[in-house]
Amino acid sequence: MDSFLIEGGVPLKGTIAVSGSKNAALPIIMAAIAVDDDVTFTNVPDLRDIKTTIKLLNILGREAALSGDTVLVRNGELGIEAPYDLVKTMRASVLCLGPLLARKGEAKVSLPGGCAIGARPVDQHLSALEKMGAKFELDHGYIHGVCPEGLKGAHIRFDFPTVGGTENILMAACLAQGETILENVAREPEIVDLANFLNACGARIEGQGTTVIRVQGVERLHGCSYAIMADRIEAGTFLVAAGVTGGELLLKNCPIDDMSAVVDKLRSAGMVIEETPEGVLARCGEQGLRGVDVNTRPHPGFPTDMQAQFMVLMCCAEGSSLMQENIFENRFMHVQELVRMGADIHVSGSSAMIRGGRKLTGAPVMSSDLRAGAALVLAGLAAEGETKVQRIYHVDRGYERLAEKLSAVGAKIRRVKEED
Ligand code: UD1
Repeated sequence: MDSFLIEGGVPLKGTIAVSGSKNAALPIIMAAIAVDDDVTFTNVPDLRDIKTTIKLLNILGREAALSGDTVLVRNGELGIEAPYDLVKTMRASVLCLGPLLARKGEAKVSLPGGCAIGARPVDQHLSALEKMGAKFELDHGYIHGVCPEGLKGAHIRFDFPTVGGTENILMAACLAQGETILENVAREPEIVDLANFLNACGARIEGQGTTVIRVQGVERLHGCSYAIMADRIEAGTFLVAAGVTGGELLLKNCPIDDMSAVVDKLRSAGMVIEETPEGVLARCGEQGLRGVDVNTRPHPGFPTDMQAQFMVLMCCAEGSSLMQENIFENRFMHVQELVRMGADIHVSGSSAMIRGGRKLTGAPVMSSDLRAGAALVLAGLAAEGETKVQRIYHVDRGYERLAEKLSAVGAKIRRVKEED
């Protein structure tokens, strides 16, 4: 299992290019299942989750491979089963359910089960597909779905704007008979990117980015070439890196228009963030960092995927801040590790009170999930002395060449291999 060794306290300075978005690429590559012809994707990040998605497509009978930042998916005979060994390593595998039912009338997908940041059920995915005519049974840990007469358009209202649920049903609705109206859908930019891809393949989707999406089903989707949007969470993580190290970073390909909630909070916390023709420039303001309160919300609110990283910024800021996590239960697992580095944080239910202004000190710490791992890397960059972040396979799921990108702007970070 690899770890990162970080010698902290170096202000980062230089330019970083933001990669393609993991959370857009996963559903979009999965959507190739719904397409009849070959599809080419560009700006795909080289990540463990992307490799897992490609493996899943391969298991489902689609030839697919990542080369540079390009994935070519070839048309071929489709299977119907997403096995447990794969789904357990990546919950997003459940996104093959909608397109498989639409194309094959049958799908067998292992039930994802719990994960480190909460229970994360898929009940809303299933009830929406049931409204479209699918029938499900649980068969030895697998969700077995059938719709022998094909999926039919339906009027669906989600209880909560679920990101994965919206994506799964969007893919299914493209090939369903008639019109599907989806209400209270997630408005995340990655959903807009998925809808834009599907429309580029001939789908008829309207309303992406708003709370109501209308889809007119079509007979078939044709191939196309599509560039994945940039990763707003990776970009946000680098903006925080500039802040906690007292450095200055220029981010190229930064999707700042999709990052208003994060950028607003960073500015309120005392960071200067400027749009320039070369990219987005970020540094600490002259007054230093100050505590601000944050509530995580569905988009366009503050993303839960930036909560852990922002908490590190708050540890380095003067004053107190209250962090309220509203999306996932159990998403404060980075807190105890940050406390081991000298942070003063108290958790009560879904809130964390951070008393900032203490110097973080390097320590051996362990990442428990992807964004928690990113937060510990940020803490290590800010801390005095050496930090060893263990279990970085979590970080590898979502950050492309993180150590290389940070080293290039002056960070003292290296990957070390270790025996279990
Ligand atoms: C996606 C993102 C993840 C991000 C999350 C919220 C991907 C691959 N992952 O995850 O990085 O943190 O959005 O922005 O894009 N829920 C139910 N029933 C359902 C579906 C969801 O109760 O059927 C609950 C979940 O348990 C969770 C909340 O709704 O508490 C949010 O889930 P959802 O929006 O679906 O997130 P994901 O698609 O899993």
